[in-house]
Amino acid sequence: MTYDQLFPVTHHFYPLQHCSDPELSPFSDFVRGLGQRKRKPTDNLIYLHIPYCEKRCIFCPFHVRVKRDETIFERYVRALEREIEMLARLPYVDDMRFKAVYFGGGSPSMLSTALVRRLYDALRSHFDIDQDAEWTFEGEPHSLSDPELLSYLAEQGTTRLSFGVQTFDRKLRETLNIAATVEDVIDCTEVARAAGIGEINIDMMFFLPGQTPADLDDDIAELARHDFDSIDYYYMSYYGLPQKAFQDMETGLFPKRPPEGARFSMNRQVRERMSVAGYHHVTDHVFSRSQKGSEYYRLLWGGGFGRHDAETLGIGASSRGYINGYSYANNVAHDAYMAEVEAGKLPVFKVSDRLRDERNRGLVFFPKFFSIDESMVPDDGRTMTVLQKLIDGGLARRQNHTIAITEDGKDWIPNITVDLFEREQRTINDKWVQQLASRFSNRVTL
Ligand SMILES: C[S@@+](CC[C@H](N)C(=O)[O-])C[C@H]1O[C@@H](n2cnc3c(N)ncnc32)[C@H](O)[C@@H]1O
Ligand code: SF4
Repeated sequence: MTYDQLFPVTHHFYPLQHCSDPELSPFSDFVRGLGQRKRKPTDNLIYLHIPYCEKRCIFCPFHVRVKRDETIFERYVRALEREIEMLARLPYVDDMRFKAVYFGGGSPSMLSTALVRRLYDALRSHFDIDQDAEWTFEGEPHSLSDPELLSYLAEQGTTRLSFGVQTFDRKLRETLNIAATVEDVIDCTEVARAAGIGEINIDMMFFLPGQTPADLDDDIAELARHDFDSIDYYYMSYYGLPQKAFQDMETGLFPKRPPEGARFSMNRQVRERMSVAGYHHVTDHVFSRSQKGSEYYRLLWGGGFGRHDAETLGIGASSRGYINGYSYANNVAHDAYMAEVEAGKLPVFKVSDRLRDERNRGLVFFPKFFSIDESMVPDDGRTMTVLQKLIDGGLARRQNHTIAITEDGKDWIPNITVDLFEREQRTINDKWVQQLASRFSNRVTL
């Protein structure tokens, strides 16, 4: 075996953001570049972030706010409108054409239909979005069951709906503090289908507290009865869990984290059972009735199968993007984000370096698509050494001028991703993981 421990983080943005001083390069170069025309057309995605939720699920590590307050929602939407106006005035962004739009969170379904309408209108009137673009709207099933909202979304050509189910185990849902019930899930699916939404994607998790292989089988059997179009199936990471839950695991008050080996065996189990249920494994953690994955993930991860140049315009608090060779993050803090935008400032707070070879981004993300054409592999010694090590270890193989990740390799995608990083990026990554580990060292393991 090539690796003995699973790398704890799955990277969605690369290169890694590390410079937060606007006066310094690369931050200043990034901002300057936005004022210039875009040199070549690329496939692009808009990601818009809504950070609100009904309740905080106990496992959730994301920046979410659980207060339901219409005044704050209204102020946040106004800030998004202003950010959209500012971005649209930038020559670089003016040259971008978009193939997909993603409303993510949090739970965008917490917003009223009137506020969602303002955001759809703002995006449509300021950006050049393809007629046949993929539009995805994310939410949690309780607030997303609103027929008025779903009819509006369908009428606007929203192609995909995505919501978190996590598990059908009712008792575990309560333990995990998930707001929606199984009935909400069924309701949401029915109302969405009736409203005419074409594709329904759900999020599921395995490696849950107390979960056994038999429980996982039950979950997959239940999900197969509902005929969802696609499933994002994540293993649960534990670093968001409060310290108290770990203490309660010791005394039996909270169900125990399964043993580490179960993360691998359950991952296998998910892949096998999902295949039997008629789903194709289209990209890392995504299973679909169709052979093709979403445009959202394709564009977020560079364009797919080794392509590197697809760009993401991130809008909203804690949103991240990739533009002109840099990845960047907006201000994470919700209030600070709004204050900055209201003062007429772009809310960017962290920027990455540019890569030495831009093709490295496509290489780093190729394992998520399971294959890359050999002609797209940068011909440098180090890349070839890493790929050969994967091939020798049985984690990848050469076939018909492509390099493909094997079933064994699919267990190690987070590690393979990091191994393919450029040297400077690995240094940033190592520091970042050290910080994460010291922040969560009291939480047993990531
Ligand atoms: C950011 S949430 C947004 C979806 C929506 N708020 C919901 O939960 O219904 C996207 C997905 O991330 C996944 N997620 C959340 N916490 C996680 C964790 N600790 N480990 C792995 N996946 C997690 C869940 O499957 C969740 O549905
Ligand atoms: S509903 Fe989704 S975003 Fe909100 S706390 Fe739960 S997992 Fe996190």
